[in-house]
Amino acid sequence: MTTARLTVDARFPIGAVRRRLFGGFVEHLGRHVYDGIYEPSHPEADEQGFRTDVLELVRELGVSMIRYPGGNFVSGFRWEDSVGPRDQRPRRLDLAWHSTETNEVGLHEFVDWLDKAGGELMLAVNLGTRGTLEAIDLLEYSNLPGGTTLSQRRIDNGREAPFDVRVWCLGNEMDGPWQLGHRSADDYGTLAARTAKGMRQLDPTIELVVCGSSGAQMPTFGEWERIVLTHAYDDVDMISCHAYYQEHDGDIDSFLASSVDTDHFIDTVVATADHVGAVRGSSKRIDISFDEWNVWYMDRVASEKPTAIDDWPVAPRLLEDVYSAVDAVVFGSLLISLLKHADRVASASLAQLVNVIAPIMTEPGGPSWRQTTFYPFSITSRLARGEALRVQVEAGAIDTAKYGAVPAVDAVATHDTETGAAALFLVHRGRVEPIEVAVDVSGFGAVELVETHLLHDGDPYARNTLEYPDRVRTRPLEGVRIEDGVLHATLPPISWAALALRRVG
Ligand code: AHR
Repeated sequence: MTTARLTVDARFPIGAVRRRLFGGFVEHLGRHVYDGIYEPSHPEADEQGFRTDVLELVRELGVSMIRYPGGNFVSGFRWEDSVGPRDQRPRRLDLAWHSTETNEVGLHEFVDWLDKAGGELMLAVNLGTRGTLEAIDLLEYSNLPGGTTLSQRRIDNGREAPFDVRVWCLGNEMDGPWQLGHRSADDYGTLAARTAKGMRQLDPTIELVVCGSSGAQMPTFGEWERIVLTHAYDDVDMISCHAYYQEHDGDIDSFLASSVDTDHFIDTVVATADHVGAVRGSSKRIDISFDEWNVWYMDRVASEKPTAIDDWPVAPRLLEDVYSAVDAVVFGSLLISLLKHADRVASASLAQLVNVIAPIMTEPGGPSWRQTTFYPFSITSRLARGEALRVQVEAGAIDTAKYGAVPAVDAVATHDTETGAAALFLVHRGRVEPIEVAVDVSGFGAVELVETHLLHDGDPYARNTLEYPDRVRTRPLEGVRIEDGVLHATLPPISWAALALRRVG
């Protein structure tokens, strides 16, 4: 068996683990809102129609800030449709997903749901088919305490206190030709800067996210960021990154190495943002909002939307990917990548939360359950506290068709200086042999093991389904020992693991 040698030390800090790194995303798409978080006829629905079993799972998942209401949906969205008396709200076509939006759940209902779920709201404005004025109106409606027609309308609609939304996305994926109102980088950068300035005239304390690329594979990647930031650098705080991964044509090695792409994506966007800052002679730093990330099998039937002129269903089954053990291992490695960049990734949103490429699934009138990806997210969100620490990894390489030679093991650690709690997150990308890891933890002083979690299945394609909701779950990683300041563990092939440690003495 080969050995990977790792070193972790509290003196290798990357940056604070911000809770916003564990954000989520709820889009009006498929059965996410309707028949997902909201199903008034369900036996476990509360007085507002929200499924309490789903709320419990969302709390267990440990999501922080939640991006809403899209996604591609937002580029055709009129926010005014979603507030006021429910029986007067219009039914609208959702062109992005070829569906009908009933507006039964709107801004107020979603904020009520978030209060129950325990999350912070991140709002996206429509810069696809609408503009600066509508964005400012929504901000006024949401954040102004009172004294104007729009703020009074919020109060009349049941919310005396402002929503006080801190973080706003200036549109969604405006670089993508599929986006309603898709624009060139110059056009979008101009509009985003103008809108940001207007919004800040109303509320200078908000944080603004400008659209970056929809993926590092976009033909405009790099130039898009440079041009958009050249227009909007002084007016925004963050630039977005979106990334989805899937196994293509049985190339599991490249799929297991997906986080190499995430690392590169983040490093390149940081370099581009810093370049624009340098050219401008600015001391300001632009951070990253990685506000869509996940495994997504885009070319499967599950992602095919209706096309016929008379076919605009309400809440169709769309993007309902059923994740395997290997998907969850890759997913865990993406979380490692985000933590490895905790200095510049200020916020991240798992896309999405319920039914739609989601860690939580529901059946109408039936149960809800955890997908395989639920586990790495909930465990990382719970254990990653304090500061992220760089882990020095010496491991053999795996040859991949897409990314060349990549280390068999990747890792990151966290350390809370106040409590002395530490955590180590590991992925083993090899698919044949187990690997022994020897982690020098002597830099922490004397530590003991508190808990261990392993995500691995003898069948990498095993999944959790309505019939077998607990087929894949984490279990303790057996045989871990700490001797003379070195932690020894054996990781099976295609596995993700988390180990929690605490200081002794
Ligand atoms: O998360 C699904 C879709 O992926 C979002 O609506 C869009 O922003 C992205 O292309």
